[in-house]
Amino acid sequence: MEVQKNLLVLGIESSCDETGVALVQSQGSGVPALLAHALHSQIEMHQAYGGVVPELASRDHIRRVLPLTTGVLNEAGRSLAEVDVVAYTRGPGLAGALLVGAGVACALGMALGKPVLGVHHLEGHLLSPFLSADPPEFPFVALLVSGGHTQLMRVDGVGRYELLGETIDDAAGEAFDKSAKLMGLGYPGGPALSRLALQGDPAAFKLPRPLLHSGNLDFSFAGLKTAVLTQARKLGDDLEARKADLAASTQAAIVDVLVKKSLTALQETGLQRIVVAGGVGANRQLREQLDAACAKRRVRVHYPELHLCTDNGAMIALAAAMRLQSGQQQANRDYAFDVKPRWPLNAIG
Ligand code: KG4
Ligand code: ZN
Repeated sequence: MEVQKNLLVLGIESSCDETGVALVQSQGSGVPALLAHALHSQIEMHQAYGGVVPELASRDHIRRVLPLTTGVLNEAGRSLAEVDVVAYTRGPGLAGALLVGAGVACALGMALGKPVLGVHHLEGHLLSPFLSADPPEFPFVALLVSGGHTQLMRVDGVGRYELLGETIDDAAGEAFDKSAKLMGLGYPGGPALSRLALQGDPAAFKLPRPLLHSGNLDFSFAGLKTAVLTQARKLGDDLEARKADLAASTQAAIVDVLVKKSLTALQETGLQRIVVAGGVGANRQLREQLDAACAKRRVRVHYPELHLCTDNGAMIALAAAMRLQSGQQQANRDYAFDVKPRWPLNAIG
Protein backbone atom coordinates (compact mmCIF):
# COMPACT_ATOMS: atom_id res chain seq x y z
CA MET A 1 0.00 0.00 0.00
CA GLU A 2 1.26 3.47 -0.87
CA VAL A 3 2.35 5.44 2.18
CA GLN A 4 1.08 9.00 2.10
CA LYS A 5 3.38 11.66 3.54
CA ASN A 6 3.20 15.18 4.88
CA LEU A 7 -0.53 15.47 4.83
CA LEU A 8 -2.49 18.23 6.50
CA VAL A 9 -5.23 16.46 8.46
CA LEU A 10 -8.25 18.17 9.99
CA GLY A 11 -9.77 16.11 12.83
CA ILE A 12 -13.25 16.43 14.31
CA GLU A 13 -14.35 14.79 17.58
CA SER A 14 -18.02 14.78 18.60
CA SER A 15 -18.67 11.38 20.19
CA CYS A 16 -19.98 12.59 23.54
CA ASP A 17 -19.97 15.90 25.39
CA GLU A 18 -16.99 17.76 23.95
CA THR A 19 -16.62 19.21 20.48
CA GLY A 20 -12.97 19.03 19.47
CA VAL A 21 -11.28 20.19 16.28
CA ALA A 22 -7.58 20.01 15.43
CA LEU A 23 -5.12 20.32 12.61
CA VAL A 24 -2.05 18.06 12.41
CA GLN A 25 0.64 17.75 9.80
CA SER A 26 2.17 14.33 9.19
CA GLN A 27 5.91 14.44 8.69
CA GLY A 28 7.74 11.53 7.10
CA SER A 29 7.94 8.66 9.53
CA GLY A 30 8.06 10.91 12.62
CA VAL A 31 5.22 11.75 14.97
CA PRO A 32 2.76 14.11 13.23
CA ALA A 33 2.91 17.71 14.46
CA LEU A 34 -0.06 19.30 16.18
CA LEU A 35 -0.52 22.71 14.54
CA ALA A 36 -3.61 23.89 16.43
CA HIS A 37 -6.56 22.52 18.34
CA ALA A 38 -9.71 23.84 19.97
CA LEU A 39 -12.24 22.35 22.33
CA HIS A 40 -15.68 23.22 23.58
CA SER A 41 -16.82 21.28 26.63
CA GLN A 42 -20.55 20.87 27.21
CA ILE A 43 -20.09 19.98 30.86
CA GLU A 44 -21.82 23.09 32.16
CA MET A 45 -24.83 22.50 29.93
CA HIS A 46 -25.29 18.90 31.08
CA GLN A 47 -24.57 19.61 34.75
CA ALA A 48 -28.16 20.66 35.41
CA TYR A 49 -29.29 17.16 34.38
CA GLY A 50 -26.64 15.20 36.31
CA GLY A 51 -25.35 13.55 33.13
CA VAL A 52 -25.12 13.81 29.37
CA VAL A 53 -28.42 14.46 27.56
CA PRO A 54 -27.77 13.02 24.07
CA GLU A 55 -30.18 15.29 22.16
CA LEU A 56 -28.72 18.43 23.73
CA ALA A 57 -25.22 17.14 23.02
CA SER A 58 -25.96 16.73 19.30
CA ARG A 59 -27.49 20.19 19.00
CA ASP A 60 -24.54 21.81 20.74
CA HIS A 61 -22.02 19.99 18.50
CA ILE A 62 -23.87 21.49 15.51
CA ARG A 63 -23.53 24.97 17.00
CA ARG A 64 -19.85 24.65 17.82
CA VAL A 65 -18.13 22.61 15.15
CA LEU A 66 -17.77 25.17 12.34
CA PRO A 67 -16.70 28.13 14.54
CA LEU A 68 -14.11 25.85 16.18
CA THR A 69 -12.87 24.75 12.75
CA THR A 70 -12.47 28.36 11.61
CA GLY A 71 -10.62 29.17 14.83
CA VAL A 72 -8.22 26.24 14.41
CA LEU A 73 -7.45 27.12 10.79
CA ASN A 74 -6.84 30.77 11.73
CA GLU A 75 -4.58 29.80 14.60
CA ALA A 76 -2.52 27.54 12.34
CA GLY A 77 -2.48 30.14 9.55
CA ARG A 78 -3.94 27.65 7.08
CA SER A 79 -6.95 27.71 4.80
CA LEU A 80 -9.60 25.03 4.33
CA ALA A 81 -8.38 24.52 0.76
CA GLU A 82 -5.00 23.37 2.09
CA VAL A 83 -6.51 20.51 4.12
CA ASP A 84 -5.62 17.14 2.54
CA VAL A 85 -7.82 14.82 4.61
CA VAL A 86 -10.82 15.42 6.85
CA ALA A 87 -10.92 12.94 9.75
CA TYR A 88 -13.77 12.42 12.18
CA THR A 89 -14.73 10.14 15.05
CA ARG A 90 -16.76 7.32 13.54
CA GLY A 91 -17.45 5.60 16.87
CA PRO A 92 -18.00 4.40 19.50
CA GLY A 93 -20.19 7.05 21.11
CA LEU A 94 -23.64 8.63 21.04
CA ALA A 95 -25.18 8.04 17.61
CA GLY A 96 -26.63 11.53 17.15
CA ALA A 97 -23.48 13.23 18.39
CA LEU A 98 -21.27 11.11 16.12
CA LEU A 99 -23.50 11.94 13.15
CA VAL A 100 -22.80 15.66 13.60
CA GLY A 101 -19.02 15.28 13.29
CA ALA A 102 -19.33 12.68 10.52
CA GLY A 103 -21.86 14.79 8.61
CA VAL A 104 -19.76 17.94 8.80
CA ALA A 105 -16.53 16.09 7.92
CA CYS A 106 -18.08 14.38 4.91
CA ALA A 107 -19.74 17.59 3.70
CA LEU A 108 -16.41 19.42 3.99
CA GLY A 109 -14.60 16.59 2.21
CA MET A 110 -17.08 16.53 -0.60
CA ALA A 111 -17.15 20.31 -1.01
CA LEU A 112 -13.35 20.51 -1.00
CA GLY A 113 -12.90 17.43 -3.19
CA LYS A 114 -10.78 15.87 -0.43
CA PRO A 115 -10.95 12.36 1.04
CA VAL A 116 -12.28 11.59 4.52
CA LEU A 117 -11.31 9.11 7.21
CA GLY A 118 -13.46 7.76 10.06
CA VAL A 119 -11.41 7.21 13.22
CA HIS A 120 -12.00 4.92 16.20
CA HIS A 121 -12.37 7.09 19.31
CA LEU A 122 -10.37 4.70 21.48
CA GLU A 123 -7.54 4.54 18.97
CA GLY A 124 -7.41 8.31 19.37
CA HIS A 125 -7.06 7.97 23.15
CA LEU A 126 -4.54 5.16 22.74
CA LEU A 127 -2.24 7.15 20.46
CA SER A 128 -2.67 10.51 22.25
CA PRO A 129 0.52 10.10 24.36
CA PHE A 130 2.47 10.44 21.10
CA LEU A 131 1.67 14.15 21.29
CA SER A 132 3.40 14.46 24.67
CA ALA A 133 6.91 15.74 25.28
CA ASP A 134 7.95 12.18 26.10
CA PRO A 135 6.29 10.04 23.40
CA PRO A 136 6.32 6.23 23.75
CA GLU A 137 7.78 3.68 21.35
CA PHE A 138 6.05 0.49 20.25
CA PRO A 139 5.45 -2.08 21.62
CA PHE A 140 3.66 -1.23 24.87
CA VAL A 141 0.83 -2.21 27.17
CA ALA A 142 -2.04 0.29 27.09
CA LEU A 143 -4.42 0.94 29.95
CA LEU A 144 -7.45 2.62 28.40
CA VAL A 145 -9.63 4.12 31.09
CA SER A 146 -12.47 6.36 30.01
CA GLY A 147 -16.09 6.97 30.88
CA GLY A 148 -17.24 4.14 28.65
CA HIS A 149 -14.27 1.75 28.50
CA THR A 150 -11.74 0.01 30.69
CA GLN A 151 -9.34 -2.13 28.69
CA LEU A 152 -5.83 -3.47 28.80
CA MET A 153 -4.29 -3.91 25.38
CA ARG A 154 -1.03 -5.04 23.89
CA VAL A 155 -0.03 -2.51 21.23
CA ASP A 156 2.60 -3.55 18.68
CA GLY A 157 2.12 -0.71 16.23
CA VAL A 158 -0.54 1.48 14.65
CA GLY A 159 -3.58 -0.74 14.11
CA ARG A 160 -1.96 -3.71 15.85
CA TYR A 161 -4.01 -3.98 19.02
CA GLU A 162 -4.59 -7.13 21.03
CA LEU A 163 -7.20 -7.01 23.77
CA LEU A 164 -5.80 -8.51 26.99
CA GLY A 165 -8.72 -7.79 29.30
CA GLU A 166 -11.64 -5.45 29.79
CA THR A 167 -14.47 -4.60 32.14
CA ILE A 168 -17.36 -7.01 32.29
CA ASP A 169 -19.74 -4.30 33.52
CA ASP A 170 -19.10 -0.64 34.43
CA ALA A 171 -16.06 1.26 33.20
CA ALA A 172 -13.63 2.84 35.69
CA GLY A 173 -14.87 6.32 34.74
CA GLU A 174 -18.43 5.15 35.30
CA ALA A 175 -17.46 3.89 38.76
CA PHE A 176 -16.09 7.35 39.56
CA ASP A 177 -19.13 9.07 38.05
CA LYS A 178 -21.79 6.87 39.66
CA SER A 179 -20.13 6.90 43.10
CA ALA A 180 -19.76 10.67 42.90
CA LYS A 181 -23.40 11.05 41.91
CA LEU A 182 -24.69 9.10 44.88
CA MET A 183 -22.48 11.23 47.14
CA GLY A 184 -24.11 14.29 45.58
CA LEU A 185 -20.91 15.49 43.92
CA GLY A 186 -22.39 16.31 40.52
CA TYR A 187 -21.20 15.56 37.01
CA PRO A 188 -18.64 14.62 35.81
CA GLY A 189 -17.87 12.79 38.99
CA GLY A 190 -14.26 11.74 38.45
CA PRO A 191 -12.53 15.10 38.94
CA ALA A 192 -14.96 16.11 41.74
CA LEU A 193 -14.51 12.85 43.63
CA SER A 194 -10.73 12.93 43.34
CA ARG A 195 -10.61 16.54 44.56
CA LEU A 196 -12.65 15.67 47.63
CA ALA A 197 -10.56 12.52 48.18
CA LEU A 198 -7.51 14.72 48.84
CA GLN A 199 -9.01 15.58 52.25
CA GLY A 200 -10.04 12.02 53.13
CA ASP A 201 -8.53 8.82 54.47
CA PRO A 202 -8.32 6.11 51.78
CA ALA A 203 -8.33 3.40 54.46
CA ALA A 204 -11.41 4.73 56.27
CA PHE A 205 -13.82 2.29 54.64
CA LYS A 206 -13.15 -1.25 53.49
CA LEU A 207 -14.52 -1.37 49.96
CA PRO A 208 -14.27 -4.36 47.61
CA ARG A 209 -11.53 -4.63 44.97
CA PRO A 210 -13.56 -6.57 42.38
CA LEU A 211 -11.73 -9.30 40.43
CA LEU A 212 -8.42 -8.28 42.03
CA HIS A 213 -7.39 -11.90 42.35
CA SER A 214 -9.36 -13.30 39.42
CA GLY A 215 -6.22 -14.52 37.69
CA ASN A 216 -7.18 -12.77 34.45
CA LEU A 217 -7.05 -9.18 33.21
CA ASP A 218 -10.77 -8.45 33.31
CA PHE A 219 -12.32 -5.77 35.50
CA SER A 220 -15.68 -5.34 37.25
CA PHE A 221 -16.79 -2.14 38.93
CA ALA A 222 -20.55 -2.56 39.31
CA GLY A 223 -20.19 -4.22 42.73
CA LEU A 224 -18.02 -1.39 43.99
CA LYS A 225 -20.72 1.15 43.17
CA THR A 226 -23.24 -0.96 45.13
CA ALA A 227 -20.85 -1.16 48.08
CA VAL A 228 -20.42 2.62 48.04
CA LEU A 229 -24.20 3.03 48.00
CA THR A 230 -24.59 0.61 50.93
CA GLN A 231 -21.90 2.46 52.88
CA ALA A 232 -23.50 5.84 52.14
CA ARG A 233 -26.89 4.58 53.37
CA LYS A 234 -25.31 3.12 56.49
CA LEU A 235 -23.73 6.48 57.27
CA GLY A 236 -27.10 8.25 56.97
CA ASP A 237 -26.82 11.69 58.53
CA ASP A 238 -23.08 11.19 59.05
CA LEU A 239 -22.48 10.99 55.30
CA GLU A 240 -21.84 14.70 54.97
CA ALA A 241 -19.09 14.62 57.61
CA ARG A 242 -17.50 11.43 56.23
CA LYS A 243 -17.85 12.19 52.52
CA ALA A 244 -14.16 12.91 51.97
CA ASP A 245 -13.25 9.58 53.61
CA LEU A 246 -15.75 7.73 51.44
CA ALA A 247 -14.46 9.48 48.33
CA ALA A 248 -10.86 8.63 49.21
CA SER A 249 -11.76 5.00 49.92
CA THR A 250 -13.66 4.69 46.63
CA GLN A 251 -10.81 6.17 44.66
CA ALA A 252 -8.33 3.87 46.41
CA ALA A 253 -10.39 0.80 45.48
CA ILE A 254 -10.60 1.78 41.80
CA VAL A 255 -6.95 2.77 41.55
CA ASP A 256 -5.70 -0.36 43.37
CA VAL A 257 -7.43 -2.61 40.84
CA LEU A 258 -6.23 -0.59 37.83
CA VAL A 259 -2.63 -0.60 39.05
CA LYS A 260 -2.56 -4.28 40.04
CA LYS A 261 -4.02 -5.44 36.72
CA SER A 262 -1.67 -3.18 34.76
CA LEU A 263 1.30 -4.76 36.53
CA THR A 264 -0.03 -8.24 35.73
CA ALA A 265 -0.41 -7.26 32.06
CA LEU A 266 3.19 -6.03 32.00
CA GLN A 267 4.37 -9.25 33.61
CA GLU A 268 2.37 -11.47 31.25
CA THR A 269 3.49 -9.69 28.09
CA GLY A 270 7.07 -9.17 29.29
CA LEU A 271 6.85 -5.55 28.07
CA GLN A 272 8.65 -2.72 29.89
CA ARG A 273 6.45 0.15 28.77
CA ILE A 274 2.90 1.19 29.57
CA VAL A 275 0.72 3.93 28.16
CA VAL A 276 -2.26 5.25 30.12
CA ALA A 277 -5.01 6.95 28.15
CA GLY A 278 -8.59 8.14 28.54
CA GLY A 279 -10.22 10.54 30.98
CA VAL A 280 -9.41 8.55 34.15
CA GLY A 281 -5.75 8.80 33.12
CA ALA A 282 -5.94 12.36 34.46
CA ASN A 283 -6.43 10.96 37.98
CA ARG A 284 -3.54 12.03 40.20
CA GLN A 285 -3.75 9.08 42.57
CA LEU A 286 -3.63 6.64 39.64
CA ARG A 287 -0.60 8.40 38.21
CA GLU A 288 1.25 8.46 41.54
CA GLN A 289 0.59 4.82 42.36
CA LEU A 290 1.35 3.55 38.87
CA ASP A 291 4.52 5.66 38.61
CA ALA A 292 5.77 4.32 41.95
CA ALA A 293 5.02 0.69 41.12
CA CYS A 294 6.56 0.96 37.66
CA ALA A 295 9.68 2.78 38.86
CA LYS A 296 10.40 -0.20 41.12
CA ARG A 297 10.18 -2.52 38.10
CA ARG A 298 12.05 -0.26 35.68
CA VAL A 299 8.94 0.09 33.55
CA ARG A 300 8.45 3.35 31.60
CA VAL A 301 5.03 4.99 31.98
CA HIS A 302 3.64 7.40 29.39
CA TYR A 303 0.62 9.67 29.69
CA PRO A 304 -1.01 12.10 27.31
CA GLU A 305 -0.58 15.77 28.22
CA LEU A 306 -3.14 16.43 30.96
CA HIS A 307 -5.39 18.51 28.68
CA LEU A 308 -5.42 15.72 26.08
CA CYS A 309 -6.51 12.97 28.54
CA THR A 310 -10.20 13.68 28.09
CA ASP A 311 -11.90 13.86 24.69
CA ASN A 312 -10.36 16.21 22.13
CA GLY A 313 -9.90 16.70 18.41
CA ALA A 314 -6.10 16.46 18.50
CA MET A 315 -6.15 12.73 19.20
CA ILE A 316 -8.53 12.13 16.29
CA ALA A 317 -6.44 14.10 13.80
CA LEU A 318 -3.32 12.39 15.17
CA ALA A 319 -4.75 8.86 14.88
CA ALA A 320 -5.85 9.57 11.31
CA ALA A 321 -2.42 10.93 10.39
CA MET A 322 -0.64 7.97 12.01
CA ARG A 323 -2.88 5.48 10.21
CA LEU A 324 -2.25 7.17 6.88
CA GLN A 325 1.47 7.50 7.56
CA SER A 326 1.85 3.84 8.50
CA GLY A 327 0.06 2.74 5.34
CA GLN A 328 -2.47 1.10 7.62
CA GLN A 329 -5.32 2.87 5.87
CA GLN A 330 -6.08 5.23 3.04
CA ALA A 331 -8.56 8.06 3.18
CA ASN A 332 -11.59 7.51 0.96
CA ARG A 333 -14.17 9.42 -1.03
CA ASP A 334 -17.12 7.56 0.36
CA TYR A 335 -19.08 10.42 1.89
CA ALA A 336 -21.86 8.23 3.34
CA PHE A 337 -20.83 9.16 6.91
CA ASP A 338 -22.05 5.95 8.49
CA VAL A 339 -21.19 5.97 12.19
CA LYS A 340 -20.59 3.06 14.57
CA PRO A 341 -22.00 3.84 18.04
CA ARG A 342 -20.78 0.39 19.16
CA TRP A 343 -17.44 -0.55 17.72
CA PRO A 344 -14.88 -2.82 19.44
CA LEU A 345 -11.32 -1.52 18.97
CA ASN A 346 -10.02 -4.90 17.83
CA ALA A 347 -12.59 -4.86 15.02
CA ILE A 348 -11.06 -1.89 13.18
CA GLY A 349 -9.83 -2.70 9.71
O1 KG4 B 1 -12.07 9.80 27.91
P1 KG4 B 1 -13.18 10.61 28.42
O2 KG4 B 1 -13.08 12.11 28.35
O3 KG4 B 1 -14.54 10.28 27.72
C1 KG4 B 1 -14.90 9.01 27.29
O4 KG4 B 1 -14.44 8.64 26.18
O5 KG4 B 1 -15.61 8.36 28.07
O6 KG4 B 1 -13.39 10.15 29.93
C2 KG4 B 1 -14.35 10.71 30.75
C3 KG4 B 1 -14.27 10.03 32.11
C4 KG4 B 1 -15.40 10.43 33.04
O7 KG4 B 1 -15.94 9.26 33.60
C5 KG4 B 1 -14.69 11.28 34.09
O8 KG4 B 1 -15.31 11.25 35.36
C6 KG4 B 1 -13.34 10.64 34.13
O9 KG4 B 1 -13.05 10.35 32.77
N1 KG4 B 1 -12.29 11.52 34.68
C7 KG4 B 1 -11.66 11.29 35.85
C8 KG4 B 1 -10.78 12.39 36.05
N2 KG4 B 1 -10.93 13.25 35.00
C9 KG4 B 1 -11.85 12.70 34.18
N3 KG4 B 1 -11.75 10.27 36.72
C10 KG4 B 1 -10.98 10.31 37.80
N4 KG4 B 1 -10.14 11.32 38.09
C11 KG4 B 1 -10.00 12.38 37.25
N5 KG4 B 1 -9.14 13.36 37.55
ZN1 ZN C 1 -13.08 9.41 25.22
